[in-house]
Amino acid sequence: MKKKWWHNTIGYQIYPKSFQDSNGDGIGDIRGIINRLDYLKNLGINVIWVCPVNKSPMVDHGYDISDYDDIDPMFGSLADMEELIAEANKRGMKILMDLVVNHTSDQHEWFKKAMSDLNSKYADYYIIRDGVDGKEPNNWRSIFGGSAWEKIDGTENKYYLHLFTKAQPDLNWENPELREEIYAMINRWLDKGLGGFRVDAISHLKKDFTYKNIEPDGPDGFVNSFPYASNIDGIEVFLNELNERTFKPHDALTIGEVDDLTPEKLESFVGENGCFSTIFDFYHCFHNINSKEWHGDLPAMVADIRKKMFAKQECVAKTSGLLCNYNENHDTARSCNRFIPKEDINYFSKSMLAVMNNFLKGIIFIYQGQEIGMTDYPKKNINEYLDLATFNSYKGLLLEGLSEADALARINIECRENARTPMQWTSSYNAGFTEGKPWFDINPNCADINVAAQENDEKSLLSFYKKMIATRSRSDLVDAFIYGSVTPKYDDISGIIAYERALGDVKILVINNYSADMTTLDFEGDFTEMLLNNYPDLVLQNGKLMLLPYQSITVKL
Ligand code: GLC
Ligand code: CA
Repeated sequence: MKKKWWHNTIGYQIYPKSFQDSNGDGIGDIRGIINRLDYLKNLGINVIWVCPVNKSPMVDHGYDISDYDDIDPMFGSLADMEELIAEANKRGMKILMDLVVNHTSDQHEWFKKAMSDLNSKYADYYIIRDGVDGKEPNNWRSIFGGSAWEKIDGTENKYYLHLFTKAQPDLNWENPELREEIYAMINRWLDKGLGGFRVDAISHLKKDFTYKNIEPDGPDGFVNSFPYASNIDGIEVFLNELNERTFKPHDALTIGEVDDLTPEKLESFVGENGCFSTIFDFYHCFHNINSKEWHGDLPAMVADIRKKMFAKQECVAKTSGLLCNYNENHDTARSCNRFIPKEDINYFSKSMLAVMNNFLKGIIFIYQGQEIGMTDYPKKNINEYLDLATFNSYKGLLLEGLSEADALARINIECRENARTPMQWTSSYNAGFTEGKPWFDINPNCADINVAAQENDEKSLLSFYKKMIATRSRSDLVDAFIYGSVTPKYDDISGIIAYERALGDVKILVINNYSADMTTLDFEGDFTEMLLNNYPDLVLQNGKLMLLPYQSITVKL
């Protein structure tokens, strides 16, 4: 594999609204990020992905952009953004922005012009169709619930497509003029010294319009649009052009948000000549120990995660590219709540989860607060939530026949807003996040879980993350961690997720006891160095390793 600058990425995702407020208005901002760059540098981070900060009416918290070339005043100014890029670069870190080009906001100039004149060229920047029999053009469901079509005001029978909320009209990538506008905009940003992009919802760029109404798959009469609007054949033509015209000439790092790629398609996305550098895949995102599927059966869930994790690793190993490994993001509940039974959520299980994921082949990303073990914050009332997607799911659950209490319980488990509570910097009332009133309630467990308390504590999760990142970045090991082979070990033993990483003479064994039970494993031979252990000791006697609950060890063989 040809080496690239971004191969050693230790990434950190920032949800700017909730990271650090600098001016007391209760909303995190770009200046707040600049003020925390040294914290991130100290953690060992070298790439920072900042979720959308462009001008936006914030219907989907910035994923509805009304001006790609400007920054929303809520977050600061264009000069602040340029300063962030420069300050990060100065410290040897690169900034990635979120590239949201499947759709714009309905307040974008293009959409406003399109709506005011359906004969203007801008109408063809969007996807507009005639209704059928007095209804929507077809019965696709929006990803956030309800129809994916919205009737255009003042017309008899015209609708526009929105795969997400109706404030996020989908762009028509079939239109070459629109594509040119997008490429020019991307190049303007890359020319400012940006490291690249996380590329939002990109698998939806191409749609298959041969389908009309389809048998509904829910009581709402709609149908999941994914088979007709996700990874559709021919999408690579757009993506390759996008890469050739923008990312490639800038040697940018691009991480596509792409799920469910068939093994045959993977090379064209992440390979050396692929359209992206790498992807965020979702193979583990829907695992939740509290869901109906697992009923708290940890061994069963662990077995399933192990199967999917190694299958994914095997699949990527067949390509000439790398995967981007992560445990959580702004669209998921917190990883400790999803992957660990409630009674076992502690330092040991959280550090074990980190090692399990971060020592896999590829690059890694940590989501803000994960490094201190931030947890979900379930609500007592649905009105304490703020996200449209939450309310749509709630409505959907009621429609399925759940009681209000049961629907809220499900939302509390699954809801992405769990990851969006403000960052917990200190134990003070507002967690050091803001001097004003926070835009979203802070988790009261900031009294125990916060950066200040962990920073000077050798035994804290934050200190463990630092050690883990330092181990992964160690000059004699780094290549083995990035490029080395992954061989599953002990895969017949329930509750164990273990693998060997190997490159040339370097061999590293990672063993995770993903259970609350003590587990004994056969261990032949010896190891030359203990690289990482989330307990003070390791018991190895007469060829037997005795692992404590959620013990995670990494040894050099
Ligand atoms: C992506 C984002 C999500 C957003 C959606 C629509 O999935 O991660 O937060 O709501 O795209 O842009
Ligand atoms: Ca602010």
